[in-house]
Formats: sequence, structure tokens, C-alpha cells
Amino acid sequence: MGGRETTERALAVHRLLNSQSPDPPRPLPHGRRFPLPDVHPPQADLVATLARRRSSYAYADRDLELTALSAWLRFSVGVQRFVPAFGVADYPLGMAPSAGGLDILRAYLVVRRAEQLDPGVYRYEAVSHELVELSDADPVPALEHVYLQPEFIPRAAVSLALTARLDVAFDKYPLRHYRTLHVDTGIAVQNLYLVGTALGLACCAVAGFDDAALGTLLGVTETEIPTMLFAAGHAAT
Ligand SMILES: Cc1cc2nc3c(=O)[nH]c(=O)nc-3n(C[C@H](O)[C@H](O)[C@H](O)COP(=O)(O)O)c2cc1C
Repeated sequence: MGGRETTERALAVHRLLNSQSPDPPRPLPHGRRFPLPDVHPPQADLVATLARRRSSYAYADRDLELTALSAWLRFSVGVQRFVPAFGVADYPLGMAPSAGGLDILRAYLVVRRAEQLDPGVYRYEAVSHELVELSDADPVPALEHVYLQPEFIPRAAVSLALTARLDVAFDKYPLRHYRTLHVDTGIAVQNLYLVGTALGLACCAVAGFDDAALGTLLGVTETEIPTMLFAAGHAAT
């Protein structure tokens, strides 16, 4: 079975599980690129960080600092190393392992308040460690349709969304990989929690989101499915 046919079958399963058809895709234009600053890794003991990690509902009422944002993305969902693979000399492997090392996941940042960034929607480019602006519209009205718990909206400075590209997955793997890409997502979520905790961020993984509304906010096509949402900001003191 070809990759396109497997993707169609996975989409049929996905629509059935969500009881939802996505809105027609409305791709967002690529705007300005924001190189993120080089940052040192946070100094924290791994087991102490595991023990301190919590899902938080207490966020500071201030902008997310650019250095914290840069370190959070760089060390949780950034590039760990380059290897010769898939016919290229420098294939990027992430800080979070993925099945077969495939580059299936993408990270998007929905900014409500962050230093030096306008509110809007951005895609994280891990290789160049940049944010690409996709929309500079205030995301709050759209977030009202995305979060099933609207209390996250005025609290979290940013919301990170992970997506999985089904076409990339099913070019290589059979249909049962629909499960594996959610495992990849879970590993990335734990990285976001641990690096966020080490940086003093308040964090919460959020499975309670509207798939179609989040897909529309991110401007993704139907073959790129949102898999998780993650609220973050500085922790309330
Ligand atoms: C995959 C996943 C999805 C979650 N979804 C939500 C959610 O939609 N809303 C929420 O308030 N918390 C959510 N959480 C947070 C959990 O409720 C929380 O991890 C759990 O109660 C244990 O608390 P702790 O993370 O502080 O140890 C989620 C956690 C995970 C791992």
C-alpha cells in the first residue's frame, strides 16, 4: 500500500476518533524570521527535576523572557546532533528521540505575551533555531475555541502545539504507526516538562483541545494533525 493511501486510511481513523472533520485548510503566509539567542543549558539535577516537575495552574502575570523561551525550545525540541541518514549527510536528530529518527513532529508557538515577540502564531525551526512568524493576529479569540479549559488562556504566556505530519510518517511506515507518532509526542511532552521545570517555568500538558480549531489556528493542512497542546509561562512566585 502506498504512503498516500495509508495516510488517507489514517485520516479516516483520526476523523472517526475525533468525531470531527477539519475546517478547510487556510495556510498562513510565512512572515518574519526571528533567530533565537544562543543560551546555556539550565544547570539542574535530572532526578531533582523529575521530582520537582508538576502540572501547574499558577502562572506569573508577565512576558515570557526570550532567553527562557530560547532555552526551553532548544533543549526540549531542538536538534541534538546531525547524522548521515535518509540520503543526506547532515540529517538532524532531536533532543527528543523519535521512531526511526523520522522528522515527523513540528512545534508551533502561540504567543500571548513574550519578550520581543508580537502576539501571534510562530513555527519553530529546530535546525536554524528560529521562529517563523505565521500570523500576527491576536491569538486570544481563536484560543477561546481551542482550549476546552479556557482558564489556561489568561494564565499561560505561550501555548506550544505539537503536530505530526502523517504524509512523512506513512511514506515510511504502515498504518499502525498512527500509535507511534503519539508516543513520539509524549516523549517531546516530557522534555518540555523537564526543561521547563529546570528553567523555572510553570507548565501543563493539555490534551483537552479542539482538533479542528487548533489546526485552523496553526494553518496546517489535514495531513498535519495537532497531537498535543502545552501551556507555559514563568511560574507565579
Ligand atoms: C498526556 C497528558 C495530557 C494532559 N491533559 C491535561 C488537560 O487537558 N488539562 C489539564 O488540566 N491537565 C492535563 N494534564 C495534566 C495532568 O492532569 C497531570 O499531569 C496529572 O494530574 C498529574 O499531575 P502532575 O503533572 O502535577 O504530576 C495532562 C497530562 C498529560 C501527561
